[in-house]
Amino acid sequence: MRMRKKKHGAERLAACAHLLLPRPEVPMTDPLAPFAREGRVCLEIGCGKGGFACGMAAAHPECNFYAMEKVSDVLVLAAERAVREADTRPDNLRFVNGDARDLAAYFAEGTLDAIYLNFSDPWPKAGHARRRLTHRAFLTSYVSLLRDGGAICLKTDNAGLFAFTLEELAALGMPPVWQTDDLHASPEAVDNVMTEYERAFSSQGMPIHALRVIVKK
Ligand SMILES: C[S@@+](CC[C@H](N)C(=O)[O-])C[C@H]1O[C@@H](n2cnc3c(N)ncnc32)[C@H](O)[C@@H]1O
Repeated sequence: MRMRKKKHGAERLAACAHLLLPRPEVPMTDPLAPFAREGRVCLEIGCGKGGFACGMAAAHPECNFYAMEKVSDVLVLAAERAVREADTRPDNLRFVNGDARDLAAYFAEGTLDAIYLNFSDPWPKAGHARRRLTHRAFLTSYVSLLRDGGAICLKTDNAGLFAFTLEELAALGMPPVWQTDDLHASPEAVDNVMTEYERAFSSQGMPIHALRVIVKK
């Protein structure tokens, strides 16, 4: 997500510090600790402006959510939204100002229940395939962070990225338990929480591809 440098971005992010996960000295073996409450632990990678993370946290008070974003000037918008909407949910949302490449520095193996990838950058050039968040190297890192029975959930408008993801999953022997080429026409549309990109693409009439993988260990 390209964005003009935010004026006072650092100060604005500092004002949301109570919602930010500091980089731990060692990976967290108990990602429930910052919440001081029970519940599943879910992570969105590349949360953008935070519409999905805030919406899911409000719709699922029984769960705890982390939302990771590598661009600080984008993360600040998500965190400020979470502050504004704090009275719509319990204290079940934290933000990670970091890159998916460093996930293992934050979370210990087998500690997460679900990972969400929403409208990840498609990196269409073949030479950039390793940058895609569904390249097998990333998928393998997600599997190690998830518990047995944990889920990887993906939504995208991009047919190329969707096809690539299916190939990578097949290569790892992890076929989706569910997939669709038109999420909004599927039964899962009822519980679907839309992202900012999803609203923009679907308002242009573009179908949304989605899939879910359950990790077996
Ligand atoms: C196309 S935007 C989608 C934003 C949001 N998920 C949505 O659906 O509206 C992709 C976002 O992922 C972030 N991102 C890309 N690669 C990332 C990485 N390696 N780690 C963390 N965030 C990343 C980008 O900065 C951008 O904000």
